[in-house]
Order: sequence, then C-alpha cells, then structure tokens
Amino acid sequence: MIVLGAGPAGLVLANLLLDQGIDCVVLERADRAHVETRARAGFLAAHTVRILERHGLADGLRLRGKVHSTCEFRTEEGRFRLDYGALGSGETHVVYPQQDLVSDLLARFVGAGGQVRFSAEATEVRDADGDRPTVHVRESDGRPARWQGRYVAGCDGRHGAARRSLPPGAVRRRHIDHGISWLGLLAEAPPSLDAVGYAVHARGFAGHMARTDTITRYYLQVARGTPADSWSEERIWDELDLRTGAKEYGPLTRGRIVERAIVDLESDVLDPLRHGRLLLAGDAAALISPSAAKGANLAVLEAELLAGALGDALQRNDGAGLDAYSAKCLAHVWRAQEFSRWMIELLHDPSGWHGGPAGPTGPTGPIGSTGPIGPTGPEDVDGPSEESLFL
Ligand code: APR
Repeated sequence: MIVLGAGPAGLVLANLLLDQGIDCVVLERADRAHVETRARAGFLAAHTVRILERHGLADGLRLRGKVHSTCEFRTEEGRFRLDYGALGSGETHVVYPQQDLVSDLLARFVGAGGQVRFSAEATEVRDADGDRPTVHVRESDGRPARWQGRYVAGCDGRHGAARRSLPPGAVRRRHIDHGISWLGLLAEAPPSLDAVGYAVHARGFAGHMARTDTITRYYLQVARGTPADSWSEERIWDELDLRTGAKEYGPLTRGRIVERAIVDLESDVLDPLRHGRLLLAGDAAALISPSAAKGANLAVLEAELLAGALGDALQRNDGAGLDAYSAKCLAHVWRAQEFSRWMIELLHDPSGWHGGPAGPTGPTGPIGSTGPIGPTGPEDVDGPSEESLFL
C-alpha cells in the first residue's frame, strides 16, 4: 500500500493501516523538518478529536491543545459573542497547531515501524485501473524510483501527483471561485481576544484566531491580485485595529509578522474520489474554502473511512467499503462546503467584496468536468498553493 503525502490525511491513514497490520510506505515530497514546522490549520472539531482519540492519536492534543468554544463577531454597530460551547450539543473545538498534530502522527507511525520516504516527490501514478498501480518518484538526489502496491492513496494535496495522474474524463471537477481574497498572516504576538474574532467591516473582513500563547493568526480581506508583501507591518496593524474596532474595544497586541500569504477563496472538489486503485483523501480529494476551518477535519474523517475500507478490501477481500467511500465522503464535503459558503456570506460585507461576486467557474486542467454549477463568477483562477490554507 502506497500513501502519497505526509499531511494529516496521509499520516492518519498510514497509522490506521499499520494498526491493522497493513504494510504501507508514505512518500513525501518535503523533508521532515519542513513537514513538522509548516504552519497551517489549527482548529479541530469535536468529531475529529473523537476519531483521533478512538485510534490513540490524540495524546499530544489532549496535553497541549486548548479548548475553544466562543466566537466574537464585531461590526461597526457593535459586537456579539457566540458561546457555541454552551449551546446545542455543547461541542467545542480544540486549538492545536496542525504542524504539532503532524509531528505527533509522524512520531507514532515511525515509532511503530512505519516507513516514510522524505524528499521523495511522486511524479505520476500509473496503471491505477490495473491490479498493481505504480508510483513514479523523484528521490532527493534526483534519481527516479518506482513503487508498486495494491492500492495508492493520493493524500498529496490539490497540486499533487494523484490529481495530475487522473486520466481526462475519469472524474468530474467542481471548481468554485468565491471572488474574495485574504491576506493571511502569522504574528509573533499573543492572542488579543479569548475567542475567534470575526470583524465585518465596510473596508473588508478581518479575522483573529489564536494559535499558541505567542503566535496568532490574522486575516485581512484584500483586493484580488494584491501582492502579499505590498502592505507594511504598520499598515497591517492599523487596518486590523480599524476593522476590529480598536477604538471601542481596545487595540490588538502587536508583534512581528512572521508569515504572510494571499489566499483566493476557492473550493475544488472531485467526484468520484476514486479511479480504480487510486483513492483520494484530504485536499487531493476536495479543497473547501477555508472560511470555516473544515479542511483538516475533513481530511481526518476521510482518512478513517478509507483506512476501514482498505482494511476490508485487503484483509477480508470485501470491496464494498471502497465502493461506498467516495459517496460517503462527498456527503460530508458538500455539507462542509455549504457551511463554509454561508460563513463567507456572513463575514463579507457585500460592499467590501473587492473581488467581485462569488461564483463557480468551469473546468480546468486535465480532469473532465460537467462545467459550472450555480451562478457564474469571475475568471478561473488557479488557486493558492496548498501552503496557504489557514484556519
Ligand atoms: N509527492 C509527494 N508528496 C507530495 C506531493 C508529491 N507530488 N505533492 C505534495 N506532497 C505532500 C506535501 O508536501 C504535503 O506534506 O503532500 C502533503 C499534503 O498535505 P496537506 O497539504 O496538509 O494536505 P492534507 O493531508 O490533505 O490535509 C488537508 O489540512 O491544513 C489543512 O486546511 C488544510 O485542507 C487542508 C488539510
């Protein structure tokens, strides 16, 4: 069994396969230090924590993660706190930086005898419709290599080899450009609020999300096409203060901006998430607009489903789980996308939508598509790198 990509999807899957006694190798393009330090998402939903706990993968987040249960919405008219932990089913999030989760998952996998090849970039998956799919790899020294297995799990993100290897017409692609861009920032500063902060302002959205005691994630909605480095740090903090209502509620705690990137809000979903013996999970399967912190949570859920289905297929010769895998995942994906889209509409003052109206765009690339869904939108933009998804 070959797993492409050592992100949350690939590493949860690899751990669960190994737990079932299924031999698997993880092929990862980046080196280990990069994978373990890359700042990405940070909010894990209750069902994700339950999955990780169920499989003994939650020790680190239980020790170091912080429970989160409140959002604060601010507008120019006032502010409103939503204590969602005290409402409905009372479920809360755990804030745990994704790179810490990835480090935990790697340590667990390698400690149990799992094999990860770092700096090994998959270039192509061949013969996915045959019995023995083959992954072509470029090793760290540039030498080509080949790996063959009974199945290949494509967990290598939206721009990975798994997606690229799908033959034309094998799957449909739904690409939605929401017409909004954010400047995503990591600041070396403690959180300024004890809640996720969402500021809806005529000048555009601003967001505040805690990461650790010393690092905070911020977002500023910017005009489409704005270069990430075009705003000075002072201008960024002034704008964040303005949009979050510093005059009324106090200024934000400032610090050095240690990372910045532009994210064009997009969704990019394949259907089905399978071609023969190539199965897709995580961002490789479905990229969800990052306005509702769903990406990493979907990745973990899909990895658990896929691990169970592969166990049935490989050890009990029962392919029913694999046959049902795509439809099961897509039900979750589209529900998450609907919520995320609703959040986009909630958080962005229509007058501040610098990128034009939101709407899906048609097919691109080698993957066949049925074309646009919903209202038509702006031009088809090839999305941000997988490095730039934040919540
Ligand atoms: N060959 C091998 N590895 C690759 C290749 C390739 N050709 N291309 C990409 N990779 C690796 C990347 O370096 C990365 O480590 O695949 C991994 C993919 O990991 P993620 O991008 O974290 O994707 P995934 O596991 O699907 O996690 C999904 O996490 O950060 C959140 O919201 C984000 O939705 C995303 C979620």
